[in-house]
Amino acid sequence: MIFSEQGDPMKVFESLKLGRIELKNRIVMAPLTRSRAIGNVPNDLMVEYYSQRADAGLLITEGTSPSPNGLGYARIPGIFNSEQVAGWKKVTQAVHAKGGRIFLQMMHCGRVGHPANLPTGAQVLGPSAIAVSGKIWTDSQGEQPYPTPMAMTDAQVKSTIQEYIRGCELAIEAGFDGVELHAANGYLMEQFLNPKANQRTDQYGGSAENRMRFVLEIAQGAAEKIGADRLGIRVSPYGANCDMGAFDGVDAFYGELAKKLSNTGLAYMHVVDHSAMGAPAPSSEVKRQIRENFKGIYLLSGGYTVEKAERDLIEGKGELVAFGKDFISNPDLVERLKRNLPLNPWDGSTFYTPGPKGYTDYPAHK
Ligand SMILES: Cc1cc2nc3c(=O)[nH]c(=O)nc-3n(C[C@H](O)[C@H](O)[C@H](O)COP(=O)(O)O)c2cc1C
Repeated sequence: MIFSEQGDPMKVFESLKLGRIELKNRIVMAPLTRSRAIGNVPNDLMVEYYSQRADAGLLITEGTSPSPNGLGYARIPGIFNSEQVAGWKKVTQAVHAKGGRIFLQMMHCGRVGHPANLPTGAQVLGPSAIAVSGKIWTDSQGEQPYPTPMAMTDAQVKSTIQEYIRGCELAIEAGFDGVELHAANGYLMEQFLNPKANQRTDQYGGSAENRMRFVLEIAQGAAEKIGADRLGIRVSPYGANCDMGAFDGVDAFYGELAKKLSNTGLAYMHVVDHSAMGAPAPSSEVKRQIRENFKGIYLLSGGYTVEKAERDLIEGKGELVAFGKDFISNPDLVERLKRNLPLNPWDGSTFYTPGPKGYTDYPAHK
């Protein structure tokens, strides 16, 4: 047992049951895109990176696409072919060998992409033909304006839902303990939830119920295949990334979504708060509604220190706390937090660059 400076046992280092697995502590490595997957296939460098961080109670991988169409960013991994499954298998085996637990984050970029980042034949798709403002990095053409996505046909909506569900099955085949559905930060799932990106007039757009349908059909379909207790979801109400942002009725919308996901039996909801990075914070009302309506585990994230994590766990705001950037620069973060050791600073210039620099070369404490 680890004790605080006041001599109290610390909750953050206690174990927790998550669905059918036991987490050794309450500290989660947040999903972090690192763009080291050359050819969109997980490799040995990634095996080293994740296994270095296996002391976390739970690792959540970087956003990983269930479809060639979802590979919007340069060098992000996929989970739709046998080579990718084999690559991920090495990651999960290395993490499990060190007693760690790992979920895959399922991220289809949707309209947040560029043809230069996609394999031949893949397309930048969105709920509606509305482009994101600003530019996106491509390895072959440098910074490029976001293209206008192709508005998905009904058949494409249905086949994309099946790609997500198949991706969840493949993640389990690759040895993951579960899957986090990425419905946050402006990627495809949130593009359906948010009317700023979804102007459809069919059953997947318009009313709140219709805008939730894409996410709920995936959650329900995946739950049938892999078990709801192996599924979590990440949401970012009020988040402003990629032209998202609050909309009319946003609090009640996420409250209702939480109720429906709770009925499906999902293991956790992971709520993004990027206010420490200058983004709008989720309202206290939306957090209250999610907490009240979702019966599973609440995963807190954004700008956490161990002191704040301990305080929020004690106050019952959630059961798990994710750390992002501190995990980038501290492979032994849990040990450092336990022993109150100083943390390595992170270097933002190597967040997304290929190779080991700023990836696997941050030192553990001696
Ligand atoms: C380099 C980098 C990559 C990220 N990639 C993802 C991602 O793939 N999926 C996701 O949901 N969030 C992603 N995020 C957001 C983090 O999961 C987390 O919410 C954020 O860093 C705030 O937590 P922190 O203050 O502990 O760093 C990323 C953040 C950073 C800095």
